[in-house]
Amino acid sequence: MSNLMLTINQQDYEFDNLDPRTTLLDVCRHHLHITGPKKGCDHGQCGACTMIINGRRINSCLTLAVMHDGDEITTIEGIGLPESLSELQQAFKDHDAFQCGYCTPGQICSATALIEEIKQQWPSHVTTDLQNPNGLLVQEISERMSGNICRCSAYPNIIKAISQVLENQQVSNSSSVTDDAPNNSPASVAISGIWSPPPSEAQIGGHSMVKQTANVPNAASAKGERL
Ligand code: FES
Ligand code: FES
Repeated sequence: MSNLMLTINQQDYEFDNLDPRTTLLDVCRHHLHITGPKKGCDHGQCGACTMIINGRRINSCLTLAVMHDGDEITTIEGIGLPESLSELQQAFKDHDAFQCGYCTPGQICSATALIEEIKQQWPSHVTTDLQNPNGLLVQEISERMSGNICRCSAYPNIIKAISQVLENQQVSNSSSVTDDAPNNSPASVAISGIWSPPPSEAQIGGHSMVKQTANVPNAASAKGERL
């Protein structure tokens, strides 16, 4: 049994005799009744349990609570509440970026960290230019969100919501993803219910790195399954 201090959403919680086998997700949901993070698969496959720990997003079903003594943990409740939504939460509402909503807390936690990663110029597997990671905005968002699955297939509107915030915060120099954007715009790739629409020849240009990852959207992703 372990003694532990967790800081979750800027509030300290002390535990005596916590079973060291308890995951961070179960501590939040079962011990603290912080139920925003969802248990979808409990196997690191769906992203519904995503939290932000020290600025990094993590599947909380795969990490033990005792590993996070002293860490800064943020769940969806710490990002915004119904009366004080974050800009991204509002964008999800505005773009109708959810249906059943089960995946949404994880999607928003993941996307909140994603925006910071892009601001800090962290590369993804499809980044071709660290100084301009937004050149293929849809591919960037799709790749960086690929660990979060939505069984309702709200992907197109989730991308629009994230794109809008990136643009509002001037992280992106591309146009927002809209239904009527011109077809030759990098940000206007047709989105049809999967995270990673295959980039066109014009979009991938001569960038070999993108070509290597162009097979990411395979049959599994088309079915909404994690790659
Ligand atoms: S519940 Fe953690 S990844 Fe699915
Ligand atoms: S909105 Fe239902 S699973 Fe994503």
